[in-house]
Amino acid sequence: MPARLIDGKAIGAAIRTEVAAAVAEAVAAGRRPPGLAAVLVGEHPASHLYVRNKARACEEAGIRSFRHLLPARTSQAGLEGLLADLNRDEAVDAILVQLPLPEGLDSRRILGRLDPAKDVDGFHPENVGRLTIGRPTFVPCTPAGILELLDRSGVELRGAEAVVVGRSDLVGKPTALLLLHRHATVTLCHTRTKDLAAHTHRAQVLVAAAGRPRLVTGAMVREGAVVIDVGINRVDGVLIGDVDFASVAARAGQITPVPGGVGPMTIAMLLKNTLLAYTRRTGQPA
Ligand code: GUN
Repeated sequence: MPARLIDGKAIGAAIRTEVAAAVAEAVAAGRRPPGLAAVLVGEHPASHLYVRNKARACEEAGIRSFRHLLPARTSQAGLEGLLADLNRDEAVDAILVQLPLPEGLDSRRILGRLDPAKDVDGFHPENVGRLTIGRPTFVPCTPAGILELLDRSGVELRGAEAVVVGRSDLVGKPTALLLLHRHATVTLCHTRTKDLAAHTHRAQVLVAAAGRPRLVTGAMVREGAVVIDVGINRVDGVLIGDVDFASVAARAGQITPVPGGVGPMTIAMLLKNTLLAYTRRTGQPA
């Protein structure tokens, strides 16, 4: 039987509606709306598209968005200065620095300059540490979205064999931690893993986040597995996931499409984290 589709577009839209309702309620009660500042340095076309989409989603949910588009030649000190201003700005509850930053800027140092209470991406070392010990403040948006998809699709994680392919700080590592904290048995694979298929074969939950088009094929997947495809690879102008959809869907129990799977969840969770930052900062429920 072909796999059931996990509809990230619909699940993401439901979360955005929940956030919009909470914001509308706060504003109707006479409070200021939440605010998200998005900082983008350089000309990376995909990053410009992502930031535009994030700003539009904010506005649709009633969240004020402040876009800071800086030239690629921006200095480390200049960018750190902007972050210091945003950290102090009372109208800004949430800050995201779109990654990757242009060469010459030290991303780790930049992320360390964010106020952890406004770091809705969860990339500040304090927030990374909190996630590691199972006491997260902000969970990074894509991994949070993956867990939300699994939960809303009725997937049992306790005791499940979970395999994550890809060890990035943005997706692979935090996703592995979240699955571990939910009592899955987690294997984290990467580009140096020998015999990747031997690992993926065991997976009841398989997360493909390696950034390699169609890396995971049907022959590598256990019958009935839940497969989450985080890949966004543009090949000849077409968006391709890390999963070879046709062959994997023939074996999997559930699968996310690309586009329309994990992608819409990242923005939905950003809005949810922004609402959380606002609620914590204003000290009132939204
Ligand atoms: N670049 C790719 N994914 C992300 C993300 O989730 N947040 C930020 N800030 N940059 C990214």
